[in-house]
Formats: sequence, structure tokens, C-alpha cells
Amino acid sequence: MDESGAEDAGGDPLVLVSNRGPVAYTRSERGERTAERGQGGLVTALAGLAGHFQGAVWVCAALGEEDVAEAREHEGAAFDLEGDGPALRVRMVELEPEAQHKFYAVISNPLLWFIQHYLWDLSDTPDITRHEIDAFDNGYAPVNAQFADAVAEEVEALGGRATVMLQDYHFYLVAERVRARCPGAFLHHFIHIPWPHPDAWKVLPPGMREALFRGVLGNDVIAFHSRFYARNFLLCCQELLGLGVDLDRYTVDVGNRTVATRWHPISVNPEELEAAAGSPAVADHVRRLTGERREHLVLRVDRADLSKNILRGFRAFDTLLDDHPELAGRVTFLALLQPSREDVDQYVAYLEKIRTLVDDVNRKHGTDDWLPVHLDLDGDFDQVLAAYKLFDVLVVNAVFDGMNLVAKESVLVNERNGVLALSENTGAFEELGKFAVTLHPFDIQQQADALFAALTMDADERRERLEACAAVVRENDIAKWLREQLRDVRRFSERAPRA
Ligand code: F6P
Repeated sequence: MDESGAEDAGGDPLVLVSNRGPVAYTRSERGERTAERGQGGLVTALAGLAGHFQGAVWVCAALGEEDVAEAREHEGAAFDLEGDGPALRVRMVELEPEAQHKFYAVISNPLLWFIQHYLWDLSDTPDITRHEIDAFDNGYAPVNAQFADAVAEEVEALGGRATVMLQDYHFYLVAERVRARCPGAFLHHFIHIPWPHPDAWKVLPPGMREALFRGVLGNDVIAFHSRFYARNFLLCCQELLGLGVDLDRYTVDVGNRTVATRWHPISVNPEELEAAAGSPAVADHVRRLTGERREHLVLRVDRADLSKNILRGFRAFDTLLDDHPELAGRVTFLALLQPSREDVDQYVAYLEKIRTLVDDVNRKHGTDDWLPVHLDLDGDFDQVLAAYKLFDVLVVNAVFDGMNLVAKESVLVNERNGVLALSENTGAFEELGKFAVTLHPFDIQQQADALFAALTMDADERRERLEACAAVVRENDIAKWLREQLRDVRRFSERAPRA
């Protein structure tokens, strides 16, 4: 075990696979190509895995022009990544732009993302037309094949034995193909978003649906953030594919193999977060926001994603102000939103709806010297950390969310006995629900009432709830998430029949 508390995963090297990689290349003003850390919490979490294997290579997509240039310079092969962390090699896969668009902006998002977060309005959307079929056949499938071939080459270069850890819904077809070519690989897939019940998958034509399930069942272990998602996955295998499942042992039989499902809630690194929250840049934002704030601060921090339920959050705030005129001028709703997936039509339209609704609420309730909702679409993480310190109520009302790391980060940083108002449909609710104020994501009146209850809660109760949430997150930290996965890798790779 090392100082992070994580154990070694045994003798095999690691091949890690995700769409966004550990590094993103850009061109500086002086014309030099510079490497920046890849975006998102997932990258930070996964970077910790590399040090526990006998060598690690991370296979990811070459996303921007400079990524592509870097990949070409290495002729598509893996190269050493320089940095302070454990030794890591990166292989950036250059995708044909049209195939990449079909893979990312038609099938992964929105089609699969919307199915897995129950976002389609089934009376009207989606239409499965030649466009979607073409995007699957000429985008998702070939991109997955290209990734599978890149992974297989890395496994072969490592002598045929390796632990392959796939991430997320972009790569459901990879494991089956790698298994066929590399029988010595142990295949593990972590799915970071919800897994819905079987009927939700009936949106897809049977051929596409079965291809996706057969593909993901090429793994030895399939992991989720919550037990409910693992259970739903098994129910899908039973009902949609007619496979034998064991709902006590959480396994599914596929031919002569048994595939295990597991659940481990992802988390954050409390020390790293608390250190970042102590920086001078954060202190500057704290000073500014403190000057601007009213008596009560309601906060939300999200990617501008439909699954986050941002519109209903503003409608609930509108209802709160209707029901409690005494709050006029005394409360602000600060929404720090990060525009996301701007090459997907639904996301562009969603952001527009957000802007319009914020204007409506502000026009209805605002006065010359009070803007009820502050919408910020280009803040940085320092501002987020400052806002975490200052909120009285944090709103996480997601329609469905695999985990929701904002809920976990915010309770570690808050300095005002802030209350977490948390959707019952988030993975985080399993751990934090009993200390949060519950939000029912579709019930606007309930959300408004819950916000009022949170804003007017007695100080001792607020403090106790916040401390309890923070204690849970400190206990179930990112090191624990890594440790549990490494334990699974050791345990199940010993059992998996391998050539
Ligand atoms: O939660 C799933 C996920 O793919 C994360 O891994 C990622 O941080 C997030 O969604 C953002 O998605 P994208 O890579 O499409 O911006």
C-alpha cells in the first residue's frame, strides 16, 4: 500500500481507455505547442490509478488540432508523458472527423446519454432514422473498432497480458473485440453514468441494442457508481438478452463466462481540494462575492447539461419568491454553469432556454438594485471554490446523475453551515441523502418548499448536517474508490480464465 492508501493491482500492466485523456495540447501565443491537464474530474481520478500497475498506457482520443499534430508526430504510437505523477505513456487516437462527429455528437451524445439519463420525451423524440443508423454504423462502431485495435496493439506490445480499464458510454463495443484478439487481457469497464431499467433501452432498434450489450459483456467486470445501476444492468441482460443472471451475487452468465457487476462511488481528493480552496486567487473571489452577496446565497454549479435539471431549479426559485415575498432583496441565486457539448443541437437549445428563463425570473422579481439570479457562464474553478465557501444552500436537483461530484466537493469547502439540497436521483444521494434536504427533481413546489426549509433551518441543525456530509466524503474519498477497484482487479483477474 502507498501513502494514498491504494494497493497494487498485481503483476499486470494497465491499459486505460477514455475519450478525454490526461493531457490536451494547445498552441501558446508564442506559437509553441503546450500540454495542459485534460478536462474534468474523471481525468484527475484516473491519473491516480497509473502508479499501482507495472507500467501504464492511457489510450484516448486526439480531440483538438494540436492533439492531432502531437499524435502524428508520434506516428499514432504511445509516447511518454512528462509530469510529476507516476510514469505514464499516452496513445492519442486520431479519428476521421466525420466518424468522430457521428460517434460523439450523434450516438454518444445525445442518443446514449439521453437514454441513460431518461431525457428523451418519448411522445416525440428521438426519431431513429437513417441518420442515427448511419452514425452508429459509420461513427460509433468504427471508432470503437479503432480504439479496440489500438488497445489490442498495446496489450500485444506488453506481451499479451494486461489489465484493460475502459471508461464510460463511449466505448461499449471495445471489450468484445479486444477479448477476441487478446485472450490474455483482463477487461474492466467503469460506467460513470446511470444504467436505466430495461424499457429505456427499447428506444434503440434491437440490432443496435444487442450489439451494445454484447459488446459491453465482453468485459470480465462492469462497474457502476451505485448498486441500483448494477441491478438495472443485470435486469437488462435478463429481459433484453435472455441471459441467466444471479441477482444475489450480481453476476451474469455469457456463454461459458461469468461477468461480474460491481459498484463503487467515485469521490474527490479532500486534501487537494482544501489546499486549492486556500489559494490567494480563491480569496480574491471570496472578497468580491462577499461584497456582492445578500443575506442568503443559493448556489448551483453544473455543466449546462439537460440531465442537471437547471430549468426546473430556476422555476423552483421563482416559486420560492412568489410564495415568500419577505425574501425579496434578501436572497440571490448564483448559477455557475459551464457550457457543454456545444456541437450537439439539444445542448445549444438548452443554454438558450436557460438564458431566457433567467431573464424572465429577473424581470418578474428583480428591482433596480436587486438581481435575483446571477448567471455566470465563464467562471473558472477558483470562482467555484469561492462560491462553495459562501453558499447557504447548494442546489443539486439533477433529473438523474451517475454520481454528482459538486455535492461532494461543496460540503468539504463550505464555511457557512451551508445546506446541501440534493436530488434523490443522484448517485451521491446514496451516501449523503440522509444529511441533505431531499429534492424531488420534477416537483417544483416541493423544491421551492425544500429551499425555504433549508434557508430557514436552525443553525445547529445546518452545522450538524454539513459536518456529517463532510465526514462521509472524507471517509469515502477518491483513494477508497481507487483501492476498491484495484481490489476488484486483483480478485477477479485471478478468477478469470485467461490464455
Ligand atoms: O459523467 C460522464 C462524463 O463523460 C464525464 O466523464 C465527463 O467529465 C463528463 O461526462 C463531460 O462530458 P464531455 O466529455 O462530453 O464533455
